[in-house]
Amino acid sequence: MKRLAVVILAAGKGTRMQSDLPKVMHEIAGKPMLRHVIDTCARLAPDHVVVVTGPEMPAVEAAAAPHALAYQLEQRGTGHAVGCARPAFGDQGFDEVLVVYGDTPLITSQTLGRMVEERRLSNAAVVVLGMRVAPPNAYGRLVPDAAGNLDAIVEATEASPEILQVDLCNSGVMVIDGGVLFDLVDRIKDDNSKGEFYLTDIVGLARGDGRLARIVEAPARELIGVNSRVDLAAAEAILQERLRAAAMAGGTTLVDPASVFLAADTVLGRDVVIQPNVVFGAGVTVGDRVQIKSFSYIEGASIGAGAIVGPFARLRPGSVLAEDVHVGNFVELKNVQLGRGAKANHLTYLGDATVGAGSNIGAGTITVNYDGFGKYRTEIGERAFIGSNSSLVAPIKIGDGAMTAAGSVVTSDVAADAIAIARARQVDKPGRAAEFRNAQRAKLKK
Ligand code: UD1
Ligand code: MG
Repeated sequence: MKRLAVVILAAGKGTRMQSDLPKVMHEIAGKPMLRHVIDTCARLAPDHVVVVTGPEMPAVEAAAAPHALAYQLEQRGTGHAVGCARPAFGDQGFDEVLVVYGDTPLITSQTLGRMVEERRLSNAAVVVLGMRVAPPNAYGRLVPDAAGNLDAIVEATEASPEILQVDLCNSGVMVIDGGVLFDLVDRIKDDNSKGEFYLTDIVGLARGDGRLARIVEAPARELIGVNSRVDLAAAEAILQERLRAAAMAGGTTLVDPASVFLAADTVLGRDVVIQPNVVFGAGVTVGDRVQIKSFSYIEGASIGAGAIVGPFARLRPGSVLAEDVHVGNFVELKNVQLGRGAKANHLTYLGDATVGAGSNIGAGTITVNYDGFGKYRTEIGERAFIGSNSSLVAPIKIGDGAMTAAGSVVTSDVAADAIAIARARQVDKPGRAAEFRNAQRAKLKK
């Protein structure tokens, strides 16, 4: 069995993001860029993963868990950053070491797999991932030899006018022979225009040792490096296109794909229909045949098969809808379980509650779950009928088959099959409306 290690460079602060958050912690599709890279690498089942982080980046450390951490205290170049990973290797040996950047979140496991495969087949010291970019601007250029092998990587800042014409660029991703990696890295010098240790110099060093270097190409769209908020938005757009395509391939109808925003972890069943303008935050699972109508915002929710949600529904974390539940317009749910076939169709807030199967929650119902200090639970049984405009003051239990009268403020438990009426009794004054109108008109005539 060949052993594979991964080194993820994530020490950069990302000055151009203008942010207090380390660059790699900015999210696309609801997940930090670093986690995208970690999760993609995980598909190769590596034996060891090292995340190289900077000093005082606790968020990066947390996102890297449970993988090994290495620290680069001063940013002295990509070669130096890889050298800093060495202590995190201990005395373990690896056949291949894959180096990726934490700010290049769209790379696919297929591409990484092709690179590892190429390294094994060719026994090259280094396999570099190239991309065609026009204009190639600041990227390092991949200079091939006559046989099509990689001769050298030349940084744009060091390149002659002829080399600047080369449009095959270094994405930064490399797979390196684990037997020689740190020997090569130790020999990198900083005698260049930036005074940095360039990882790219290992190609020339390996060639000097009589070893081979190879190029694998991938589309530039997959290799976008995020340095600014504009890049972040571009990466988000590409990822959304991928997620939408995958959703449709899996049997979900997106009536207007461009207006549906998915999270990286959104799970959609078969024959789901999503109308235009729906947003998914992290942690949503949608069962088969669910309909989600326009302008709904859904996060941290599980929606059972056959349910209908929206339009204008807001499902917050902890919303669990069983099969065939209906949640309609201007309904907000939070930390609530709705049993099979339960309905809350209009203008309702249900929080910290359970609603039994087949219960109907009338328009304007509110679970009064918060008193400014604590949160309290509302438990509604099966087949209950909550009248319109009921306030259920928690903690409270409404039994199976119970009813609350419209407009009630319910403050104590309601037994099964009982009806609770908690509102002022109606008083009728015959003729008083007409008397009132006449009096007002008489005043106007004066
Ligand atoms: C690097 C490559 C260049 C390639 C480009 C692709 C080198 C010398 N150059 O250039 O050939 O075309 O990426 O985007 O490798 N990092 C650290 N510590 C450091 C320096 C960098 O962790 O000391 C991390 C950065 O956070 C970033 C990545 O390594 O994620 C690349 O660094 P960056 O400074 O952007 O390299 P480039 O100059 O763009
Ligand atoms: Mg860069």
